[in-house]
Formats: sequence, C-alpha cells, structure tokens
Amino acid sequence: MKRTKIDMALRGDAARGDILVKGWVRTRRDAKDFSFLEVNDGSCRANIQVVADAGTDGFSFLKDMGVGAAVAVRGELVASPGKGQRWEIRAASLTLIGKADQESYPLQKKRHSDEFLRTIAHLRPRTNKYGALFRIRSEMAFAIHEFFHDRGFAYVHSPILTASDCEGAGEMFRVTSLGPQEGGLPEDERAAKDFFGKDAYLTVSGQLAAEVFACSLGDVYTFGPTFRAEHSDTSRHAAEFWMLEPEMAFADLGDDMDLGEELLKYLTGAVLTRCAADVELFASFVDKDLPARLEGIRDRPFERLPYARAVDILAGCGKTFEYPVGFGLDLQSEHERYLTEVHFNRPVIVYDYPKEIKAFYMRQNDDGKTVAAMDVLVPGIGEIIGGSAREERLDALERRVAERGLTMDGYWWYLDLRRFGSVPHAGFGLGFERLLMLLTGVTNIRDVIPFPRTYRHLEF
Ligand code: 4AD
Ligand code: MG
Repeated sequence: MKRTKIDMALRGDAARGDILVKGWVRTRRDAKDFSFLEVNDGSCRANIQVVADAGTDGFSFLKDMGVGAAVAVRGELVASPGKGQRWEIRAASLTLIGKADQESYPLQKKRHSDEFLRTIAHLRPRTNKYGALFRIRSEMAFAIHEFFHDRGFAYVHSPILTASDCEGAGEMFRVTSLGPQEGGLPEDERAAKDFFGKDAYLTVSGQLAAEVFACSLGDVYTFGPTFRAEHSDTSRHAAEFWMLEPEMAFADLGDDMDLGEELLKYLTGAVLTRCAADVELFASFVDKDLPARLEGIRDRPFERLPYARAVDILAGCGKTFEYPVGFGLDLQSEHERYLTEVHFNRPVIVYDYPKEIKAFYMRQNDDGKTVAAMDVLVPGIGEIIGGSAREERLDALERRVAERGLTMDGYWWYLDLRRFGSVPHAGFGLGFERLLMLLTGVTNIRDVIPFPRTYRHLEF
C-alpha cells in the first residue's frame, strides 16, 4: 500500500477509507482501553491523531512507540469526534519502524531554546518551528525558480571553484589539494604546485558568470551557495550562504530596482498564500507583527532615494548612532534599520552610492562621484539585496580598475564582453538566508540554514 503524506490526509485529498501513513511519534497518551498517538511526518505543521486499541494489529508494541519513534500506521481515515482535529485514523495496524530511547531522546515535549537546538541540528527539523522553517525554505527556492521561469530568465550554473575575487573584498576561502608539508612552500612555488597551477578559491558570487550569460542569453539568474571568510560574528553573516543573482541585458539601474522590488513582493505574497500554517506559527511564537509586515511588503510600494539623501536624513534625525554618518561612509546596519523601521517604515531602496565604497564593476554616473548601485534595505535586517548597473564601457572599466589598484590579469574574458557587442546590463544579489529571516521573523542567520557555517563553527 502506498504511503499517504499527512498534509494530503488532513486536507481531505486522500482517498477515503484505508490509508497508510509513516512518521515520528510526537506524543502518546494511554487511556484504559485506547491509546492516542500524535504522528508527524514533516509534510505539514499538523500531526495526525491515531487511535489504537486492543483490536489493532501490533498493539502490544505500543509501549515502544514513545516520543521520537518512527512508526507506520494503517487504518481508516475518519472524521474525528474529538475536538482539536477534523480527521483521525482508526488504526487497523501499527508497526514500529525505529525505536527512540525515551531517556536520552533530546526533544522532549517542551519548548527548547534556539541555542540548544543549534547543538542538535540533526534533530531540530523534527520540531514544529524548524519543520516550518525548512518547508518555507524549500517553497521559496521553488518560488524563485518559478518567478524567473515565468519571466523568461534562463537558469545558469556558475562555478563554485574560481580564481577570481568578484567583489574585490578579499574575503575568500582558498582551496588547495596540497598536503600540510607542501603548504609550507614559498608563496610562488606553492601556487604553481597546487592542483590548478594557481591559487583557487570558493566563489563569493556568481555574478561574473551571470554577466557572461546575460550577454548571450539575455536575462539569466544563478542561484547557489557562495562563501565568504568574513570574520564578523554577526547574526546576519554566514561563511556559506545561498545567493540568488539575476542579471539582465539591455537594462539599467531602474530596471534593476524594479526587478528587486517585484521579486520581493512576489515572494512575500507566495509565502503568505502557500505557507499559511507555517507563517502562522512564526506569527504566534516568534514575531506577532509578521503577517502585517509581510502584507505591507507585498502591497505597498518601496521607498527609493539616492544615498546622498539617505545620509542627510540620518545626519539630521537627531539619533546618536554607534557608527558615524557622512557622505563617503558606508551605511551600517543600524543606519539601514533606522531608515526602514523608523523613518520610512517600509523597505527602502538606496541608490547612487559613492564609488569609493562600492565594487569595481559598478557603472560610473556622470557626476564622477557616484556609481549606479542600489541596495534594498528591509525592516529587521537592513541590506537584503545589493546590485548595480555594470560598467559596460571598456575605457571606463579599465580606468576604474586602475584607480582601485586592481589588475585585470585573468579577467581578459570579462573585458572581452566590453569589446565585442557590449550592452548596458544590470543585476543584483539577494541573500537567500536574509530573505528567510525577513519572511519568518527569525533574527539569527544560524536558524534559517540547515547546517550553519559561521566564524569558528563547523559542526555537522
Ligand atoms: O552585496 P553583495 O556583496 O553583492 C554581490 O555579491 C554582488 N556580486 C551581487 C550581484 O550584483 N550579482 O551580496 C549580495 C547579498 C547581500 O545583500 C546579502 O543579502 C547577502 O548577499 N550576503 C550575505 N548573506 C549571508 N552571509 C553573508 N556573509 C553575506 N554576504 C552577503
Ligand atoms: Mg552589499
């Protein structure tokens, strides 16, 4: 007999009559002649109630079907006479698939702290909260593909091993196949001896590959893991995180901002309709303002303003910040959050940043001081999207690289894009974990990724 997922059974989509469900016991209550099991299979937030009695096949094994045990239940799906659930299963047979030792099973029926659950990342998806979180994560990855597929964007797989530092920020993990002894060689010899005959790194961004493909397929996106050796131990930075990077040909900064706003509206709408029960859990236990905030993001236009005006607002607002504010200084998350949470009370797109604080590839504006960059800032988090129009003029790009003291050795192909049929193009990067923080109200990035990798932490 084929297994029915509990979400199907509870939606009433399953065939009436006999069904088979498999999952893990959440609770068991034994009465005189009956036992009630709450079983969850991860397909939805709700458990299914199972009623067993002496007539149920396998009833004698019930004593081993404690919290955490894996079980199979065959029986009839019937309208439940009890309150709290619409459906229940009258069990014809129960099978114990995997026991769980009751003394040592770490997920007892009480609320556990996020900190504790991080130490059992292999079991936390079995809790209501993390089950909901990772279902939302899966749905949102799918919704991203759907959004771009519907708009005719091609999905490009950018490499993870790379020799280039896209962001020029030097926060790369080096990858080597050399053993510890060879690692001690002098710098030039070491690189030459290594697997690729040169230094190799884990990518910080798929942008350069996306630019190449935008300049041939038109509109593209990459979506995959990216890596940054940032030593900052914050609640918003991970060493390994997922980034979505669309890139559009024949597009400018305005198109880029429009796409970012449309995407965030689409995804907040999708989570509200497709993950309603899971969002409701976060509204009840994590952040009661979540639904209203998500509806606001979905329904109200974002604010857009140039960086210079953002600086004026921050400098004139009368609030004392930890970090200084002024033209030419990067916005810190406290500034970003003031703009979104206090001043505008909605997502804010800041554009035209001073060129000194932005990456070499961003298109210079005519004022000579700023570049056509944009960041989308959201309440609770700050920067969630960073993007720009790309410098498509060869001479301007070369000047910019020289100003920065960078070399384009190894980037001949990137420059070639500007030599042969160059076109204005623009794109951005959306941090997928930051999106999930926004959609759930969870405030620590460690709690929205299955197995977090952060400074000094590499478990599981
Ligand atoms: O602003 P960033 O550094 O932009 C880029 O990497 C561009 N190459 C993207 C592009 O234009 N194609 O990063 C983009 C986003 C940030 O806004 C943030 O949401 C996320 O990636 N991000 C991180 N998320 C988690 N942990 C980190 N260490 C992150 N660094 C960036
Ligand atoms: Mg950025």
